[in-house]
Amino acid sequence: CKEENSKNLSFPRKQVMTKNKDKTNPLWGGRFGEGASSLTQSYTASIDIDKKLYEVDIKGSIAYAEALKEAKVISPKELQKIKKGLVKILAEIESGKFEWKESLEDVHMNIESALAKKAGNAAKKLHTGRSRNDQVATDLKMYLNVKIDEALQNITSVQKDIIKQAEKHISSVMPGFTHLQIAQPVTFGHHLMAWHEMLERDYSRLVDAKNRMSVMPLGSAALAGSRYKINRSLLAKKLGFQSLSRNSIDAVSDRDFVIETASTLSILGVHLSRICEEIVLWSSSQFEYVYLSDEVCTGSSIMPQKKNPDVAELIRGGSSKTIANLMGLLSLMKNLPLSYNRDLQEDKDFIFRSIDYSNDSLVLLGLLIKGMKANTKKMEADCKLGQITATDLADYLVDKSMPFRKAHETVGKIVAHAESKGVQIFELEISELRKFSKLISEDVSSYLDPVKSINSRKLVGGTAPSQVRKEINFAKKVLAKR
Ligand code: ARG
Repeated sequence: CKEENSKNLSFPRKQVMTKNKDKTNPLWGGRFGEGASSLTQSYTASIDIDKKLYEVDIKGSIAYAEALKEAKVISPKELQKIKKGLVKILAEIESGKFEWKESLEDVHMNIESALAKKAGNAAKKLHTGRSRNDQVATDLKMYLNVKIDEALQNITSVQKDIIKQAEKHISSVMPGFTHLQIAQPVTFGHHLMAWHEMLERDYSRLVDAKNRMSVMPLGSAALAGSRYKINRSLLAKKLGFQSLSRNSIDAVSDRDFVIETASTLSILGVHLSRICEEIVLWSSSQFEYVYLSDEVCTGSSIMPQKKNPDVAELIRGGSSKTIANLMGLLSLMKNLPLSYNRDLQEDKDFIFRSIDYSNDSLVLLGLLIKGMKANTKKMEADCKLGQITATDLADYLVDKSMPFRKAHETVGKIVAHAESKGVQIFELEISELRKFSKLISEDVSSYLDPVKSINSRKLVGGTAPSQVRKEINFAKKVLAKR
């Protein structure tokens, strides 16, 4: 997924200015007296980026040729020639033998022109009633459909990796954080399942985006629709679309589906980056909550001891591209008049980069999570820091019928006292605690224990292992249906 971003236009000035009299474009050159300058050809070409669409383009053309035959625009024989030619072209592309030409601009014209060589006059009829405008919108939707399916599978697979780790650590205690300060005890399994929830929303957003884009533009032609008797419903069925576009002008102008996918992927990117930030933090020597497997780390060229979490860092850093791509697409579309404008060609680079980042990163995140070994001793030890059960002490006072605000205030004073002595509240003698409230007696110790604190949070969504078990079972059931 590392294409050249800019075209190489640094050829000599003279060559740039040369008029290519004999080189008018064979597919649209009729009205031109001379060919476009090399500079124009190179500047307008998108083949380096849109050749990724070759498979859906060919699939679309085969179905379209069948529709042309049904409409009696081409004969059954011509259809056979077109199909045979397209299948051959597909094989050539896949074996790397196909020669992509910049002078033919894009994937659509490269394939159509290759077909002309294989199927002669029949090939020249394929574009009847079709424009690259409805063709590219259709292709892009079909391509994104495939890529979103891949992303959905990748999300599910990461979720399975998360669940496996969470099951191992259903009752491993760790400090929970707010403001990155120790807050209250939670279980490691509960924290991991938070990642699952984030990804679950990404999954459902992608499904929404996929459903909403399942409207077929083909048959809209350049912008006004087609005069040929194309059976659009049958075409849509063959190409996997749920419905037909109802306005040809909108159909060729619309890139909402690209923006929506990019937006969904940028939220996913934000999630991936937050998850990876935690992995980076946790694997540091200061935290030492997890050990990462060697396969997702790299070393330093100078410091022999280093094992750096580069994959997690690059997922975190790379996610910024998903946000940049969304901004790029929004600014590309803003102020464009209807219907098709060549600007739209720029959409693909943005969305391809977002989708490739997402799919690659999800696969690597799976590896990271699978290979992660939890250091439960360190997590447990840290539950003795940060006055972690202060809230439980307030809850204790509430159970002894003190109003919560008063309990909060009382525990605040106890915390200040403990901190002035440099100890944790659970290290204070009962007699010392009683100076702050006579409601406190021996039974308080069970409230100060992190494990008891966890076990008490049994409401739906809470960190109690019994509850986390239920949520894991629920998640497993949801995933089993996919
Ligand atoms: N390569 C173009 C794109 O990606 C295809 C459509 C070109 N249409 C046109 N009228 N020039 O948008």
